[in-house]
Amino acid sequence: MRAIVKVKDGINWVGAVDWSVRDFHGYLTQKGTTYNAFLVMDEKIALFDTVKKSFKGDLLHNIYKVIDPKKIDYLIVNHVEPDHSGALPEMIEVIKPEKVFCSARGKKALIDHYHREDWPYEVVGTGAEISLGKRKVMFIETRMLHWPDSMFSYLKEDALLISSDAFGQHWATSERFNDEVDASELMFHAAKYYANILLPYSPLVQKLVRDVQKMDLKIDMIAPDHGLIWRDSPMQIVAAYDRWSQQTPKPKALIVYDTMWHSTETMAKAISDGLIESGVSTKVMDLAVDHRSDVITELLDAKAIILGSSTLNNNMLPRMADMLCYMKGLRPANKIGAAFGSYGWSGEAVKLMNSALEDMKIKVLDPGIQLQYVPDHAGLGKCVELGRKIADAVKKESYSGAH
Ligand code: FEO
Repeated sequence: MRAIVKVKDGINWVGAVDWSVRDFHGYLTQKGTTYNAFLVMDEKIALFDTVKKSFKGDLLHNIYKVIDPKKIDYLIVNHVEPDHSGALPEMIEVIKPEKVFCSARGKKALIDHYHREDWPYEVVGTGAEISLGKRKVMFIETRMLHWPDSMFSYLKEDALLISSDAFGQHWATSERFNDEVDASELMFHAAKYYANILLPYSPLVQKLVRDVQKMDLKIDMIAPDHGLIWRDSPMQIVAAYDRWSQQTPKPKALIVYDTMWHSTETMAKAISDGLIESGVSTKVMDLAVDHRSDVITELLDAKAIILGSSTLNNNMLPRMADMLCYMKGLRPANKIGAAFGSYGWSGEAVKLMNSALEDMKIKVLDPGIQLQYVPDHAGLGKCVELGRKIADAVKKESYSGAH
């Protein structure tokens, strides 16, 4: 996609659309993504962020539609991760900018990535302002959201917040603004992005939301570095981040399993019967077909996580081990859990999944159920009972208001 888009007078989107990327460090980007970059024309011409190295041509092509890139004075690096700075070394060669603005941690990260001490760095921190002429840019450091170097750029006269990774979505589209796409699909991608990238930093998101509220910034538009720009009711995504980062679950249960010969799958269905008949919204996900990152999206607002795996070679099945490794890093909070599974002769999987839950500080509600080979009627009855028991706890311990 090579089409610049006017964001505001004198401000153009000049980024790139990546229709085909499907993996972001284990996150299934099933609909691609965009790498957003913004060109601001003023007495000083500034480029906010660049793109992934392989999209350098798209960025240059888009800038040329507005201006000769050599006329750019300032480069602003809100975030050093290579999906935003990969094209930077070549852009610096072309542009020869007067200054490269970044946070102190940004400067260190740029040097650690590109080994160039000679670039014209200008370090800025929260509250620092630079003038582009008619407009001023204020910087807000957002450390660990989600890298130590991350920061926002706020263009006061335009009431535009360029928010780096925060408030983004991995979704490749020809449209550039939230009011041009389906609102529920947009919110799905924004929630998936939050759950898979920002969830472990939820306490910092809470602090950031409060800090930004205190600053009382007029915000007319929020432009993240991925996905759609929030033009219509931009504060809706800040409100969603406030909600998600509080990690107050809904009365919802998530059953995630992998199965060898369908016995564990049969148990999953019986547990879901117990939950559903008790009136708890329940989602059942089979790791053979559901991606780990989609499981995490469902986990974002679920109270209970119930894990199922057959025992294989004295262990859980490998897809469950992968799931738990990924989930542990994302540090979900305020959850309750349980485990179940079928086994042949040793039956370690349930115990191992319980340990993994405890390790993640997820309250294990029940020792769990393991059934030998193929579940009989009595065994499945125990599974239904487990579902009912979890339903009682879910209803008692979760928030039932609107989310
Ligand atoms: Fe989109 Fe943290 O990079």
